[in-house]
Amino acid sequence: MKNFRIAIGSDHGGFSLKESLKTALTSESVSFTDFGTHSEASVDYPPFAKEVALAVLSGKADRGILICGTGLGVCYTANRFKGIRAALTPTKEYARLAAAHNNANVLCLGGRFQTPAEASEIVKTWLETEYEGGRHDRRIAMMDE
Ligand code: RB5
Repeated sequence: MKNFRIAIGSDHGGFSLKESLKTALTSESVSFTDFGTHSEASVDYPPFAKEVALAVLSGKADRGILICGTGLGVCYTANRFKGIRAALTPTKEYARLAAAHNNANVLCLGGRFQTPAEASEIVKTWLETEYEGGRHDRRIAMMDE
């Protein structure tokens, strides 16, 4: 797997899956910074999504992974930041296309819907898929206009 620096964050609904993914990333020698949350105690998801988005935009991280109960709340929040292309990826094929066509720089997962094994395969697919460029460059540029 490429030597990406990952910023990872979750709310309480994604905490358990975040911990599993950290183990999977470590076993693949992918470096990460954990922006929290650090327990199952109920928290609001926007501040965690914001920190991960800012880490990616500032270049402190190459990519971000965000997890809440559904993946939706963190995805909406991250996409408020210009330059972030956050993708909700229920399956590996979504992850492949999010990388190949949308050059997604943040992956969003649902801690209440995806098993650790599924999530780890989804993340691996996203990290290993190359962005295709070409016609997609124009479309991505249009997002930021
Ligand atoms: C928290 O209960 C839940 O709303 C949150 O994790 C997420 O699913 C929101 O989109």
